[in-house]
Amino acid sequence: MQKTILVTGSSGLIGSEAVAHFDRQGHRVFGIDNNMRRVFFGAPGDTLWNLNRLRETTRHFTHANTDIRDRAALEDLFRAQRFDLVVHCAAQPSHDKARDIPILDFEVNALGTLNLLEATRQHSPEAVFVFLSTNKVYGDAPNELPLKELPTRWEYARPEDYEGISENCRIDRTLHSLFGASKAAADLVAQEYGRYFKMNVGVFRGGCLTGPQHSGVELHGFLSYLVKQTLTGGSYTVFGYQGKQVRDNIHSHDVVRAIEEFAANPRPGEVYNLGGGRANSVSMLEAIEKIEALAGRKLAWKYVDENRIGDHICYISDLRKLKSHFPKWSITRPLDSILEEMVEFQRAQLSRA
Ligand SMILES: NC(=O)c1ccc[n+]([C@@H]2O[C@H](COP(=O)([O-])OP(=O)(O)OC[C@H]3O[C@@H](n4cnc5c(N)ncnc54)[C@H](O)[C@@H]3O)[C@@H](O)[C@H]2O)c1
Repeated sequence: MQKTILVTGSSGLIGSEAVAHFDRQGHRVFGIDNNMRRVFFGAPGDTLWNLNRLRETTRHFTHANTDIRDRAALEDLFRAQRFDLVVHCAAQPSHDKARDIPILDFEVNALGTLNLLEATRQHSPEAVFVFLSTNKVYGDAPNELPLKELPTRWEYARPEDYEGISENCRIDRTLHSLFGASKAAADLVAQEYGRYFKMNVGVFRGGCLTGPQHSGVELHGFLSYLVKQTLTGGSYTVFGYQGKQVRDNIHSHDVVRAIEEFAANPRPGEVYNLGGGRANSVSMLEAIEKIEALAGRKLAWKYVDENRIGDHICYISDLRKLKSHFPKWSITRPLDSILEEMVEFQRAQLSRA
């Protein structure tokens, strides 16, 4: 049956993947994105290329330049349209950027999310609502796990931590960054719309979400930015932890598949960690080496012996809860194929430029 779907942040990495995916299935997809990524990160963060790509390749996609902070505009949209599914991806997504713009960050991440939840409750209360949260809601609590230092990466020291960080990690009394705090506010309010109002709300706490459609910049989208800098002969700075900090990376397609599985069998107010898991984990040093090999050239990178405030040392998403609730979901894109696809895509973009 054809569904009507709203995707916020539809020109961004996850939003655009969701638009393309649900459009291919024949659903009607409304996207809102005001290209605010450009406001946050300047020209390299501009997402118009991605909007144009979607316009050329989709069949049932309608875009509006709406700002999720604009309650009146959301009210108009939700009055005109009943939605079966809302995929909320619009955000100020950077940990470090938030310190320069704390009020804007909170307005977009926390208030913007509340605006959408409330509009959904008022006008499409039966809809499934998926909120893209972040592992930064755990602040630096994951850094309290005992670690051991290996030649190229940090690793959990205890066997019981092998699968990574679960949803039971605490989210308060830790150092979040203002971004982590604004997303934690949104994460809690989204859970409340599930638990208190019994709406079909699901919260996905992302590890490193990645893919070719990322408009990668220094402050957000590390693999995308790393690929870009390597191919163009740019520079890169690694901050602290001997470059051995570990991230788990998930392709935007696998993110959207998790959203799709939740939408088919929603569990009100449920929270899931969503990343690439152990198999798709990589340290900075390892990522640089892999990308250099694929790009066929060296990256000019330097090391600064000071970590980003609150940065995770070793973060691997424990995917066991997600897999047990949604057995049809799994990681389908291994890290090496993600990197190959990103390098190829960037090469093609550069040759067109
Ligand atoms: N990429 C990651 O590594 C990662 C990790 C964890 C969580 N997340 C979360 O996943 C979601 C999607 O991330 P992404 O990587 O696709 O980010 P992205 O920056 O690529 O996409 C977000 C989009 O939202 C738009 N936007 C921003 N503010 C807006 C506003 N006020 N109104 C309308 N549109 C607005 C931007 O222009 C951008 O196109 C975000 O909520 C982010 O916090 C991402």
